[in-house]
Amino acid sequence: MKHLLSPLDMNVDELENLLDLAKDISLDPKKYSHYCDGKKLATLFYEPSTRTRLSFEAAMLNLGGSVLGFSSADSSSAAKGESVSDTIRVISCYADICAMRHPKEGAPMVAASKSGIPVINAGDGGHQHPTQTLTDLMTIRELKGSLDNFTIGLCGDLKFGRTVHSLINSLIRYKNVKFILISPKELRVPDYIRDDVLKGNNIEFEEVEKLEDVMPQLDILYMTRVQKERFFSEDEYVRMKNFYILDKSKMEMAKPDMYVLHPLPRVNEISVEVDDDPRAAYFKQAQYGVYVRMALILTLLGLN
Ligand code: CP
Repeated sequence: MKHLLSPLDMNVDELENLLDLAKDISLDPKKYSHYCDGKKLATLFYEPSTRTRLSFEAAMLNLGGSVLGFSSADSSSAAKGESVSDTIRVISCYADICAMRHPKEGAPMVAASKSGIPVINAGDGGHQHPTQTLTDLMTIRELKGSLDNFTIGLCGDLKFGRTVHSLINSLIRYKNVKFILISPKELRVPDYIRDDVLKGNNIEFEEVEKLEDVMPQLDILYMTRVQKERFFSEDEYVRMKNFYILDKSKMEMAKPDMYVLHPLPRVNEISVEVDDDPRAAYFKQAQYGVYVRMALILTLLGLN
């Protein structure tokens, strides 16, 4: 049985196939409207979500299937002390595939080891968010035509931002992708990303603090919010939360074809005045999230 726990669970060829399928779905979603007739997706969300949970549910409904699940730990028997292992054994009797978000890193992997159905990691703590990465890859490929030969700036909370960790892990497998890591020193990428993933694979990267200094070099700017829920101190969060604000004046420093991505939700880090800029691609990115999740469900269920 196949699961998706990390972006590296798919090799580049498998990713290409999935992105090709997502593209085909985007061109004619109705063609796929009965591929999952009779199938059920369980969404097991122990942490809040808008996009990931609802785009998974929309994806399964678009494919003709049904959905069930819970949207907070409090509304499940986790509140009574049930383990993830026991929960997934039970859910395997109710559904054909599941997407799990959990605050503990590795929880979806534990679930997969006991599961009778494919498990998709929908975000585990500050660790990984592989389906956001699939969404990001589809967005970049659609906007730039390829996943090779570009400079990406990743800006904001690079320490706790799991979408950043997953995206770096995935993009290093493509040709001539240069990384500019833009963060305050307190929120730099974890050592394993810098040392094992980037340096360990001889990937070109630099770490900077000022966004303005690097804007003209970027082909993609991937903004992230400061992850309030992962901070131990409220004061520290307040000190960091408005460190970067992308506004019109900063956009004027960028290339005319530099696109802005953001996994969302946004807090203050992108001013709403940027939303009307044709290079603002974050809402389009959220739409692509439905197509890639449709493609992923079909792939993991062997229905593609
Ligand atoms: N991008 C993302 O994971 O958004 P949600 O937290 O709303 O699911």
